[in-house]
Amino acid sequence: MNSGYHDLPKNSIRETWSGKEVDSSSDFLRIDGHPVMERWETPYMEKLAQTACRNGGVILEVGLGMAISAAAIQKCNPSKHIIIELNQQVIEEQKAFISSHPSIEILSGDWRDVFDQLEDSSLDGVLYDTYPMSKEEQHVHQFAFIEKVRPKLKPNAILTYCNLTSLGVLYSQYSVKGETANETWNLIWNETQKPQLVEAGWSEMEIEGFDVFSLPQEAIVARGDCQYYSHDTCLVPKVVKM
Ligand SMILES: C[S@@+](CC[C@H](N)C(=O)[O-])C[C@H]1O[C@@H](n2cnc3c(N)ncnc32)[C@H](O)[C@@H]1O
Repeated sequence: MNSGYHDLPKNSIRETWSGKEVDSSSDFLRIDGHPVMERWETPYMEKLAQTACRNGGVILEVGLGMAISAAAIQKCNPSKHIIIELNQQVIEEQKAFISSHPSIEILSGDWRDVFDQLEDSSLDGVLYDTYPMSKEEQHVHQFAFIEKVRPKLKPNAILTYCNLTSLGVLYSQYSVKGETANETWNLIWNETQKPQLVEAGWSEMEIEGFDVFSLPQEAIVARGDCQYYSHDTCLVPKVVKM
């Protein structure tokens, strides 16, 4: 089975992503023609936001998109909500949302370039949800960030992440082996996520595991023929700094 997104470019588009044109509505966000975010993901974004906010405090979010998870993080009343976003038009489109939430601080740019502005041991929770810039990084871009962010986390801080452009493809491949959704996610976790987290410098004890989030029926109906995700459950990773 070969569902999921298969149209990422061979050569990285990172250098030009900042100025790429956005096509958006209240239901979707496309950047440079790529399906980056859709409204049906809202319940899943809420679950990720609640996970990232389980300790309260200072939350880092990477990838503003349609500000769906950002709105959910705001509902958790963070003391500070830092958002890193690379595309300038995305920031512009969310100007009203940003200015009406005083705990939000925007760091504009590639997370790699603004990372040093974050203080060491300052974060209580992290939600990473960006977009792969090439075929090569489709399944792995989150791990480069996860390796780098470790010193920025306070002890007991929690990190979660989303990469549906990858997991849409992986679930299709692994569901052939797994008899249930939980079994399939276990296989995906143990073969494609956990080893990469360990390689990124996180100990086995810090890798708390994952929740399986079941999408509500309304979200599945609203999704229609989504190009990048067609499954009924989603992964909610949990990594906790010791
Ligand atoms: C999937 S969307 C985020 C969706 C968001 N969680 C929401 O609920 O609307 C990914 C976002 O990450 C941004 N992005 C991609 N690469 C980035 C990078 N290297 N640094 C910062 N932002 C990045 C994209 O421009 C896009 O706005």
